[in-house]
Amino acid sequence: MLQPWPLQVVFDSVILDKPPPRILATLAGPFWDAVSRNLLSVMIAALVLVALAASAAMYLQNIAYIRLAQATVRKLRIRLFAHVLELPVALSRRMGAGELIERITTDTDDSQKLVEGASTLLFRSIPTFLGITAIMVWVDGALALVTIVLALVLVLATYYFGVKVKGAIRRKRVHESEVATLVEAATKTHKWLKVLGLNKGEIERMEEKSDASRRAAVEAGIWQGFYVSSTNVALAAGSAVLVLFGVSRIKAGQLSPGELLVFMSYLKSLYKPIREFTKYFIKISKALACVERIEQVMALTPCDMGVCESPQAEELPSFRRSIAFDKVSYAFEAGSEVLRELSFEIPKGWKVALVGDSGSGKSTVLNLIPRFFDATRGSVRIDGRDIRSFTLESLRKRMAVVTQDLVLFSTTVRSNIALGRPEEEVSREEIVEAARAANAHDFIMKLPDGYETDLASGENRLSGGQAKRILIARAFLRDAPIVLLDEPSGGLDPASENQVMEAFDRLAEHKTVVVASHRLPVVANSDLILVLRQGRIVERGDHRALMRQGGIYHELWSRQVRARQEN
Ligand SMILES: Nc1ncnc2c1ncn2[C@@H]1O[C@H](COP(=O)(O)OP(=O)(O)OP(=O)(O)O)[C@@H](O)[C@H]1O
Ligand SMILES: [Mg+2]
Repeated sequence: MLQPWPLQVVFDSVILDKPPPRILATLAGPFWDAVSRNLLSVMIAALVLVALAASAAMYLQNIAYIRLAQATVRKLRIRLFAHVLELPVALSRRMGAGELIERITTDTDDSQKLVEGASTLLFRSIPTFLGITAIMVWVDGALALVTIVLALVLVLATYYFGVKVKGAIRRKRVHESEVATLVEAATKTHKWLKVLGLNKGEIERMEEKSDASRRAAVEAGIWQGFYVSSTNVALAAGSAVLVLFGVSRIKAGQLSPGELLVFMSYLKSLYKPIREFTKYFIKISKALACVERIEQVMALTPCDMGVCESPQAEELPSFRRSIAFDKVSYAFEAGSEVLRELSFEIPKGWKVALVGDSGSGKSTVLNLIPRFFDATRGSVRIDGRDIRSFTLESLRKRMAVVTQDLVLFSTTVRSNIALGRPEEEVSREEIVEAARAANAHDFIMKLPDGYETDLASGENRLSGGQAKRILIARAFLRDAPIVLLDEPSGGLDPASENQVMEAFDRLAEHKTVVVASHRLPVVANSDLILVLRQGRIVERGDHRALMRQGGIYHELWSRQVRARQEN
């Protein structure tokens, strides 16, 4: 704001020999004599000093801003992430993993523009605008009005071209991402493109996309040219008008030439805060949209997702008698039930198997027990009480779950096993013991870094059977009275199936077990076998009873045994 003033003094008092402004005398105090004798050098020094101070202030402001903005992003991101992890697993189905990732990474980052926009406007644009306006009005009210109007016109004149440049740049980006997608798809299907002789078509498509991208880029360049020239022309025209007015004010004795010089420089300085206004206005509204998307996720409660802890929830002290399903129905989407009125009881210490075709509802039954989902109708009871009356933590603490999909985290083997008891420090001996029990110790010792092998690295991929055994080791470590296993032998060859099943039998000792499996021989020694078909229990009993019955189970059994013999 002060930048042009030394220039005015040089102009009016050094060149034109007018008396210097009184404010200088006040500022200089006792040094005034010395200052007035060397006015030119002092003013030139002032010119440089003011510019230095302005730049330093700007620099500090930018640093303060980036600190604040990044701290906000970090906090927001962590809170959102923690919140998402608190929500029931149904969230990722409702929202899609990609969308969640986008909200946690991009949206939190973009929302910092809110901080950027608000702080720039509040601490820079608005004070600059008001300050300059106040000084101008103080010096010459009429000319101040003219200058402000001119600055506004200037912004408007260039706004149109600015919008055009942005539009073209955005189009170019879209075409460029299309090019990237094309390359990605082609590298993935390279072999097939060759086999099928589709190379030419792909190249043509590449030409097309590249052309579109080139056109948009050239267009952006053209508008950019217009934008720069229009700014210059508008600035020149504004200056011309200002000179016209200013000269008549000087002639009328209401203005000094140096003051006119200051106004002309203010015309340029005003342009910036006004531009910032429009720019940040758009940025702020975009950032607000991001904040809104974040808030939508933050506003979701477990109750919205169907799993909700009641305020009166009590601890489940221990597991004593039984798990019971009482007319349990479940629907992922309203109207289409995948489980229908399931009723059965699992006394403590029993091993119960869920068998049936793919899609018959085995995994869904298992998921209801730790309340990954809640029954749509009916209730699941433990020791005679609805599991919704227990705290989620105490309920899940009684269970070890081995899921159907092999969820290993990108960390060391040791940490992956230790997750069985996340709330406490686990000793190495306990981990090794769990791994041994799960038939995993031997292959873990053969990994490059043994228990410290990092599963995040691509080279350390485990086979399905190995991953399964790590999960079983995790369940061993957890040492919970209820064990839920989904497809313990899914997708394994006979050798690794034997190893996994051995581990599984050991895990099942002295525990209450619910296991879902396609493979009947794996579960034939269960105390109770429930045969599911399309969400209903169609047969129940132990292996001998079901074989005697000669129904679906009998038929499935014969088919599987025959298939095995043929192999
Ligand atoms: N996330 C989901 N959203 C909607 N429907 C689902 C979802 N998961 C499963 N289903 C449906 O619920 C039914 C039961 O699925 P479930 O996974 O329980 O079967 P399953 O017996 O475990 O099958 P598999 O042997 O293949 O593991 C299926 O018809 C399936 O299409
Ligand atoms: Mg399943």
